[in-house]
Amino acid sequence: MPTAAKSIEAEIIKLREEVLHHEELYYVHDRPEISDVEYDALLGRLRALEEEHPEFQTPDSPTLRVGGRPAEGFAEYVHRRAMLSLENSYNIEDLRAFDERCRKLADGRPFEYVAELKIDGLSLSSHYENGVLVRGVTRGDGRVGEDVTQNVRTIRSVPLRLKVAEEGDTEVRGEAYLSRKAFERINAEREEAEEAKFANPRNAAAGTIRQLDPKVVARRKLDLFAYDVLRGERKPFATHWEALEWLERAGFTVNPHRAKCTDIEGVIEFCNRMEAERDRLEYEIDGVVVKVNSTALQDEFGATAKAPRWAIAYKYPARQATTQVESIVVQVGRTGALTPVANLTPVQLAGTTVARATLHNEDEIKRLGVKIGDWVNIEKSGEIIPKVLNVVASRRTGEERPFRFPKKCPVCGGVVSRPEGEVVSRCVAADCPAQLKGRLLHYASRRAMRIEGLGDALAEQFVQKKMVRDVADLYALKLEDVAGLERMAEKSASNLLAQIEASKARDLPQLVYGLGIRHVGERTAALLARHFKSLEALKGATVEQIDDIHEIGLTVAESVRDWFDDEGNAALCERLRERGVRTELAGGGVGAQSDEAFAGKQFVLTGRLETLTRDEARALIEARGGRVTSTVSKKTDYVVAGEESGSKLDKAQALGLNVIDEARLKEMLG
Ligand code: IVH
Repeated sequence: MPTAAKSIEAEIIKLREEVLHHEELYYVHDRPEISDVEYDALLGRLRALEEEHPEFQTPDSPTLRVGGRPAEGFAEYVHRRAMLSLENSYNIEDLRAFDERCRKLADGRPFEYVAELKIDGLSLSSHYENGVLVRGVTRGDGRVGEDVTQNVRTIRSVPLRLKVAEEGDTEVRGEAYLSRKAFERINAEREEAEEAKFANPRNAAAGTIRQLDPKVVARRKLDLFAYDVLRGERKPFATHWEALEWLERAGFTVNPHRAKCTDIEGVIEFCNRMEAERDRLEYEIDGVVVKVNSTALQDEFGATAKAPRWAIAYKYPARQATTQVESIVVQVGRTGALTPVANLTPVQLAGTTVARATLHNEDEIKRLGVKIGDWVNIEKSGEIIPKVLNVVASRRTGEERPFRFPKKCPVCGGVVSRPEGEVVSRCVAADCPAQLKGRLLHYASRRAMRIEGLGDALAEQFVQKKMVRDVADLYALKLEDVAGLERMAEKSASNLLAQIEASKARDLPQLVYGLGIRHVGERTAALLARHFKSLEALKGATVEQIDDIHEIGLTVAESVRDWFDDEGNAALCERLRERGVRTELAGGGVGAQSDEAFAGKQFVLTGRLETLTRDEARALIEARGGRVTSTVSKKTDYVVAGEESGSKLDKAQALGLNVIDEARLKEMLG
């Protein structure tokens, strides 16, 4: 090979190593050392070199993660070793019976169990040849699955190359899932795009892995917890526990919640402990999987046609309940969409009291055939509002009353329109107070301008008392007006005003998102903001110019144009600018108002501060152009340590970072 080519190959190899290293820090250890921009630059350089020199492209290059060409369909793949399912158990007695059976089979020999979480996703098998990922397959019916290699390559917690030396065929099995956060983001985007939402993260994950376009898969951010490894058809380790440890060393994410137990009592304790933790996890689980630790015993116990005898799933109680529909009300959201909600006789469901469930829309009410007074089965999954599954027809008495979907807006009496082919009915009145309240709440929401403390009750009062007619009016609120409201002490009023003030410095993507333009979700808002760099430029853009942006389509472009063509909206933008809201992209060079000491600096807050809450401190730092992150790394510029600072402070000291106290922070803030 000529020397020039050799050095290019060497650079590609080096870049690949670097990208992989930073990906692992970010995705597996949650401990980034470089910024997203620096990471993108590395990946961009690598992609450019590989495109110029396809001869150096390898199947384990991180550039393949962003998705290749759409597939025509998926090929079938026969699993070398069947992907069995698990026997289910629903109570402690079942677990004890399982233990009895295992002890009988072990015939007096001592053994251990491993208890781990049963992740609510779908199982995937990843195949490695000499340590390089060559294939990804769904479970399918357990015997034959589908080859979804391109999609599996987009999952960051599936290493493209194992980090430990491996020869021959290695197969790693695990559960692919979507975090609650990723799920909510996907559904929010689907709502914006007026596409049907996924019912739960598992359905969303299953729908995602079978997506034909890997670029869509890459954006959705599937994740995976690995739980098994095979070499050829054999389990390579003496115990399951060792297999999990090896998986971690090989670069996979193994769920940290697991326990090695010497008897079934330890397993039961783990099941109970995790049930209490369940809602705090970032992903959904539906139970615990209990496995015999010794692989020799596993082989000896064997399997039935469907499930191994050495493992069992302990399923948590279903999050379903039966209750009665007391009334049906219709809520009006910021886009005017009418959403029917069932008021229920309160019922206990997975640790919380449920008194309402969404009925989605008029068609859903028809589909369910639900009437007022009906008994219904409801289900709760994760943080999402419970939904009505079906009507218990056998409990009808004849007293139930049908519900008629309103022809007028239940809040303002305005005209309701439901265009042909759409499921959503909308109030089209321009001055509907329910829409205004929805717009305020959206503008103030975390992903938009993040005005903490501006919740439902307050927005309601602002609208009712006509203190606020659009989002720009928020910036004209006075302390005495706010302090005079119901349940508003002077301190909370001044906190709120500080939050509103701090929101002026939010960046353009958050502002564009906060405006609530139809079809413009968080992602689209960021694309628009980065492309046009100022609200003024966006306002002046033609449909063609917007449509030209990669990843933005005509529907969105027209919707944006329509929004700015509305005189009221154009005037609103002007008033936001006049009142000091940043309408230009920070770092875009134009008018980015920031402060030397804070601009671009990374802060980590830890421990309890004396006079400021964490949110206030964050708002103040961000208002000056600083960034507040939650993990301490080499990139952290300041660690603000309060009372009882724990491991973050230790880590900051170990890294020799700049640690300051609250007094010093206030000095810097002036
Ligand atoms: S072990 C033969 N471990 O549950 C062993 N499965 O109901 C079978 N699952 O198809 C798999 N978390 O999709 C195992 N920690 C875990 C799991 C897990 C979720 C899923 C998996 C399997 C299903 C069986």
